Amino acid sequence: SAGYDLVVVANRLPVDVTLDEDGKPSWTRSPGGLVTALEPVVQKSDGAWVGWGGSADLELEPFDADDMRLVPVKLSQDDLTFYYEGFSNDTLWPLYHDVIQPPTFHRQWWDAYQRVNRRFADAAAAQAAPGATVWVHDYQLQLVPRYLRELRPDVRIGYFHHIPFPPLEIFAQLPWRKQVVEGLLGADLIGFQRGGDAANFVRIVRRLTDKTTRGQVITLTDAEGRTERHVRAASFPISIDSHAFDRLARTPEVQARAKEIRSELGDPEILLLGVDRLDYTKGIRHRIKAFEELLEDGRMSVPEATLVQVASPSRENVGAYQQLREDVEAQVGRINGEHGELGHAAVHYMHHSYPMEEMAALYLAADVMLVTALRDGMNLVAKEYIAARSDDKGALVLSEFTGAADELGGAAILVNPHDIVGLKNAIQHAANIDPREARKRMRRLRRRVLENDVAHWSASFLSVLTAVPTRDHHV
Ligand code: G6P
Repeated sequence: SAGYDLVVVANRLPVDVTLDEDGKPSWTRSPGGLVTALEPVVQKSDGAWVGWGGSADLELEPFDADDMRLVPVKLSQDDLTFYYEGFSNDTLWPLYHDVIQPPTFHRQWWDAYQRVNRRFADAAAAQAAPGATVWVHDYQLQLVPRYLRELRPDVRIGYFHHIPFPPLEIFAQLPWRKQVVEGLLGADLIGFQRGGDAANFVRIVRRLTDKTTRGQVITLTDAEGRTERHVRAASFPISIDSHAFDRLARTPEVQARAKEIRSELGDPEILLLGVDRLDYTKGIRHRIKAFEELLEDGRMSVPEATLVQVASPSRENVGAYQQLREDVEAQVGRINGEHGELGHAAVHYMHHSYPMEEMAALYLAADVMLVTALRDGMNLVAKEYIAARSDDKGALVLSEFTGAADELGGAAILVNPHDIVGLKNAIQHAANIDPREARKRMRRLRRRVLENDVAHWSASFLSVLTAVPTRDHHV
């Protein structure tokens, strides 16, 4: 075939595929902010999506699902252990999130990372039409831009980094730091969530390589010094399909379900909500601790106040995630034992994920949304909450350490989640906020989120990428 003009490459496909006994595939939506953002982009283009189907050793032909062309990449059990759980989620993830957890460095994991990145580059090269645009995503695939350029010098290569890019002082710990930077520099355009992430990257290029930089343009010269290629770094804060979410939350079914949720919880005066992948970057323990202390201090009480915490299962084979789960579950058990009543839990903890309709109803039901991440690339849960609130009600407590705070800081209630005293005050302020002030804040938040939706994000990234000259020019 002639191939696709747009090829998206990400570690995960937007669906988790499972095979039934007759080998017939069926699928469910896969987790995380990347999928939330990219799905509408690929649905509205005629592009293909290259990624892993969500379980080991799955050998599948390309197929169509939910208006998308999906091209599965096979990962063996060893690939999962060393490339996905190991290098991606036990080396890079903690390193790039402020070393909240100490990263682990293993040469065997690095070997697997290179091997699997080559496989993704091969798959993308096979799908791309001549002169196509290939858009590579996230920290699991930082070497793909370089490998792909070697295979297909004719395509435009964009890379978007969904998570934070750390400062040099932290990044420099990585034994393979140079190779990772060179991998990324295979792209024509490297997108980040925040201006600060792009600045960290450019400083790292300046300090760790011999490339010259001017502002956020990096110049690469070939070995003979005859041709030059430019790589641009810039920030493109990601978003959600805000209008679709807004519409969903306005449906009578969702509205009715929101009321039902409140009554199932015994019509509390203050319903606090947290929604996260169960990840140590999300500040779930800090949030629960703050609520626990508010109960202990008598500043809040059960059943008037209750916290609903949806924690969707994530990376369950990685030790730090298993430890976090134990810690959170012990904490929830302790608070409920101490402060719960028959039929009235202090914390309603759910370790599973829900369909979008149920999430929209939960957002609508909640008086206060708690986003207390210790570090987060963007945090799309904050944007979903805002998009759901067409009633202009509700309050958002938002960590300064999220990418979203750069955009929404002016109208959200900002917190430093490490400061438990400040966090308690912010939660109490949000719970008792004057309805006029709440409405004013929510209107400002909604204006931002409805204007800067995911279509705006992808169009800005792709238009900058398309403007990049594809031929290297002579010096
Ligand atoms: C974050 C990352 C994504 C990742 C998602 C879910 O949003 O930026 O790249 O897909 O988490 O994590 P998982 O490891 O389950 O893919």
